[in-house]
Amino acid sequence: MRNPTSGMLLGALLAAFADDTAAQPSYPSKPIIVIVPFAAGGPTDVVARILGDHMSRTLAQQLVVENIGGAGGSTGMTRVAQSPPDGYTIGVGNTGTQSAAPALYPNLKYDPAASFDQIGVTNNTPMVIIAKKDMPAKDLKEFLAYLKQNQAKVNFGHAGIGSTSHVVGVTFFAQLRIKPALVAYRGTGPALNDLVGGQIDFMIDQALNNIPQIQAGTIKAYAVTSTTRLPSIPDVPTTLEADMPEFAANAWNAMVAPKGLPANVKAKLVDALSKALDDSDVLRRFAELGATAPQGAERGPDALQKLVETEMARLKPILKEALATGAK
Ligand code: MLT
Repeated sequence: MRNPTSGMLLGALLAAFADDTAAQPSYPSKPIIVIVPFAAGGPTDVVARILGDHMSRTLAQQLVVENIGGAGGSTGMTRVAQSPPDGYTIGVGNTGTQSAAPALYPNLKYDPAASFDQIGVTNNTPMVIIAKKDMPAKDLKEFLAYLKQNQAKVNFGHAGIGSTSHVVGVTFFAQLRIKPALVAYRGTGPALNDLVGGQIDFMIDQALNNIPQIQAGTIKAYAVTSTTRLPSIPDVPTTLEADMPEFAANAWNAMVAPKGLPANVKAKLVDALSKALDDSDVLRRFAELGATAPQGAERGPDALQKLVETEMARLKPILKEALATGAK
């Protein structure tokens, strides 16, 4: 015989489930986990914490950063993609995880263009070609000559296969036809510590990560990959000025959520991110770190979706060609 209590229980469970997946007027009613797919202290982590702090105030709930490094950021972004789409787990990926990874991991468990609800681009930042402070070369020209002569003994630090620092490095090596030894870290935060300590020789890393070290003289900077110099490191030339005009790179970060967010949850996250990107303290911090916030039509889910699709299509052949030269 059917037990009426079990029927009521089932009804209550179904109602709770429906509440969880449909519109959540009270969202957020508990802290939001922000997965950063790289080590703490690196560029993605810094961006997530600056924005998370502001978004916590807008949403009246804490955004709590959780660092899940590994496999060039794809471990953490897989976790984001596979989390419930309820707005309580989101992630901050980058050029590597959200556009290069599919070209480098045939068995990647997420599709940057299909597995996420895009929240928006968070920032753009150029890369800087940096080396340990006792690197003998005094400028980019000398450094490139040094690399060609010493490629067998120099080593290059990056944040894992498919990370931004790895992808930009691989295209750089392909252009120069060099094959340095590659040393993988769980993020460029720890890689930079080893560069300062002289355990690795050079990196190409987001300005976001290295401006204080360049200013303090604990590492050497040979060139920024943007078309104009960065005000916070005005003595560092652009690759254009330093006779490497064909080498330009812009890195970006992006906030995403698992696919299937309730519309009102998505709208709240998009709005909170946009408010953070308009905040004068956030913009001041970004400027100090060499980053810029997306403006106007560069903001929001549609712009990010378009960027991810364009970047995936752009990087696929570039990486295929670069890897064919033997750079890994
Ligand atoms: C990081 O946060 O460690 C970097 O963004 C990693 C990378 O180079 O992609």
